[in-house]
Amino acid sequence: MPGSKLAVVGAGSVGTSLAYASLIRGSASHVALFDVNALKAEAEVLDLAHGTQFTAAAATVTGGGDIAVTEDADVVVITAGAKQAPGQTRLDLAGTNVRILEQLMPQLLRHAPDAVYVLVTNPCDVLTVAARKISGLPPERVFSSGTVLDTSRLRWLLARRAGVAVASVHASMVGEHGDTEFPVWSGATIGPVPIREWEEGGQRVFTPDYLDETAREVTQAAYKVIAGKGATNYAIGLSGARIVEALLRDENAVLPVSTVLDGPYGISGVALSLPSVVGRGGVHRILHTPMDDDELAALQHSADTLRSTLATLGI
Ligand code: LAC
Repeated sequence: MPGSKLAVVGAGSVGTSLAYASLIRGSASHVALFDVNALKAEAEVLDLAHGTQFTAAAATVTGGGDIAVTEDADVVVITAGAKQAPGQTRLDLAGTNVRILEQLMPQLLRHAPDAVYVLVTNPCDVLTVAARKISGLPPERVFSSGTVLDTSRLRWLLARRAGVAVASVHASMVGEHGDTEFPVWSGATIGPVPIREWEEGGQRVFTPDYLDETAREVTQAAYKVIAGKGATNYAIGLSGARIVEALLRDENAVLPVSTVLDGPYGISGVALSLPSVVGRGGVHRILHTPMDDDELAALQHSADTLRSTLATLGI
């Protein structure tokens, strides 16, 4: 995208995967990678730059150990912080990563005061509230990737079972990007067909038990990947690149990002994911997604869980 600078904070597996995905997809015309480990950041930048001939838009790649590389970024994606150890929940990371954010945000705001800030570091919902308070920015300009990745996992599972393209599956995970997230089955469809009415050979495919198992597979997905390879990075990198595109291309795309709520469903003061309109400047609108009573209760449970963590941290 002409004149669009993405700054990625953190050159770990998530940050570098997000930078790589953004280059391949042409999400931004300039990708800057910052890490306190200058040697690592510089090596990652070189390795990315060496391949730009083969990327969508031959973007500029810069970066290193000086946070000034984020100067005048249009979008800043924060991936820096401790990552989940096998079996650890995302909320277990809260204290450590809030402290890292408290160090980072004031410096970033000096270099990129007009940027939209996207939190990827976990627990991303908790860090979104912290970042909002630290920065004083309006809620639309500080949000997190939330359940964009979980929604992609859900759609992949449903598409695979139904034998249709992922793009034809319309279903969302909402709530915490974590153990209390849940699918909004009541509004889920494959093409125009409500998910619960999808049939094969006259038989309903997505029975209540099947849907419950699918939801569990999504909420456990990260644990499974972490147990096998130590971290997740490719899918979250692609998810982040998709969000960057919606911002820099002013798409007004509907994505389940996590923003600090002020009233929807009677929830305020916590950040959690709901389908939202994302375009240049950030989150323009949180969509009031129809939910049945069980889903509304699950949303409140997600909010209560996040509120409890925020209270423990004094945020
Ligand atoms: C995951 C990490 C990004 O869900 O929280 O893979």
